[in-house]
Amino acid sequence: KSLEKALDRSLKSLDTNYVDLYQIHFPNPTIDLKKTLRTMEKMIDMGKMKYIGLSNFNLNLIKRAQNALSKYEITSVQINYNIFHRKNQRGIIDYCEKNHIAVMAYFPLGHGKVTQPQYNKYFDHIRKTVGDVPNANIALAYLVSKHHNAFPIPRASNREHVMQNVKFSDLLLKDEEMKYLENRL
Ligand SMILES: NC(=O)c1ccc[n+]([C@@H]2O[C@H](COP(=O)([O-])OP(=O)(O)OC[C@H]3O[C@@H](n4cnc5c(N)ncnc54)[C@H](OP(=O)(O)O)[C@@H]3O)[C@@H](O)[C@H]2O)c1
Repeated sequence: KSLEKALDRSLKSLDTNYVDLYQIHFPNPTIDLKKTLRTMEKMIDMGKMKYIGLSNFNLNLIKRAQNALSKYEITSVQINYNIFHRKNQRGIIDYCEKNHIAVMAYFPLGHGKVTQPQYNKYFDHIRKTVGDVPNANIALAYLVSKHHNAFPIPRASNREHVMQNVKFSDLLLKDEEMKYLENRL
């Protein structure tokens, strides 16, 4: 009941009849996952939301969530994923790729870490082939070049950063460029 009320409140604040994606922010061990997901399915049928997403779920919980659904699929999974924090996330990403689930990468800039000057020398090497683009764009391009199902969600409060970051999708890294960064960061 509280889930339905929360979505109704959000729809009202957003002044819309439906949201495309509704995500469970964190797993809550005190609430039956199946009940939550079945309620979300009901809300899809009511036209209040289109797709179900998870966030901060580990691989076992993602599988449990899939099994708990009766008629719809998990559409997206949001995880902490960036060039510095990647090794133990690969299992989830590979699984999602096989199961046609989108991966939304939060902290895609390592909470701003990729822009710290001590890493410039590694990004400078990539700039030799891709041209004069900022560290942030290379770090975002790394994620989408590595996985076709990865969707980074960078945050920027500075207008210039926003304008820079939207251009990252113009850039794709080659395998050797990705390997260079992987071996050093
Ligand atoms: N699902 C979850 O549990 C969860 C948890 C945490 C975060 N998130 C989501 O993840 C998103 C990103 O998280 P985040 O903000 O912590 O990390 P982030 O996107 O990795 O890094 C943001 C930082 O990078 C800086 N930045 C952005 N673009 C830049 C550029 N082109 N050049 C230089 N610096 C740049 C920003 O500075 P300025 O602000 O000065 O532009 C900000 O300090 C948020 O939208 C948030 O909603 C989700």
